[in-house]
Amino acid sequence: MKSRTFRLDRFISQNSAFSLSDVRLLIAQKRIFLDGQAASSVQQKVTEFTHVVLDGNCLKDRKPVYIVLNKPKGVVSATKDLKHSTVLDIIQHPQKNELHIAGRLDLNTTGLVLLTNDGAWSRKISLPETKLEKVYEVTLSRPLTSEYVSVFREGIYFGYENITTRPASLEICSEYTARLSLVEGKYHQVKRMFGFFDNEVLALHRVAVGPVSLEGLDEGHSRLLTAKEFSAIGAY
Ligand code: URA
Repeated sequence: MKSRTFRLDRFISQNSAFSLSDVRLLIAQKRIFLDGQAASSVQQKVTEFTHVVLDGNCLKDRKPVYIVLNKPKGVVSATKDLKHSTVLDIIQHPQKNELHIAGRLDLNTTGLVLLTNDGAWSRKISLPETKLEKVYEVTLSRPLTSEYVSVFREGIYFGYENITTRPASLEICSEYTARLSLVEGKYHQVKRMFGFFDNEVLALHRVAVGPVSLEGLDEGHSRLLTAKEFSAIGAY
């Protein structure tokens, strides 16, 4: 999703009866307010979340929303689906129809999904360069060995995309269970990484994305990101 930024004069001329050339005078007369401050230049930027008031009338008031959901099995990571419930169906929020998913989970994968209406934010957190760790608990059909740890750290070649996966950290918890941390999210990445060893993933659960965890959030429930989590992600 692209976030759009406009110059103030262009935004006003497209959203009011005033023309581009009227805006300078409106500014001089202190008739335009951006996020509570009188506008000072025709070149000021209006982003998707700037609160714009002209002559006391609000022209734009779109608030950024950041939600964390504990996705149950069988719920699809999409905003519309004809067959299954979607993540939007199980979220209660007045702006939920503006939201998109920042990192999908497969139908049968459970756990942490982030949703937002802030395209710049979701793009940033999805970039491998941001190095935001996605942590998964994995249950396998065959026993794990220490070889997995070094192979995952080295990276696995994915022919379809012609890439080698970024270094991933695997902690073996028991013969059939492990915790895997990735900084990227290629299609079916976890299943394909274990597929390298012909080891089928029987259950997959995302427990954390960077500083955000599922602690205290029951399956099927969602909550807003806290200010602390938001600024911790911003620091990546
Ligand atoms: N990797 C997968 O294979 N599936 C998911 O749902 C998430 C990561």
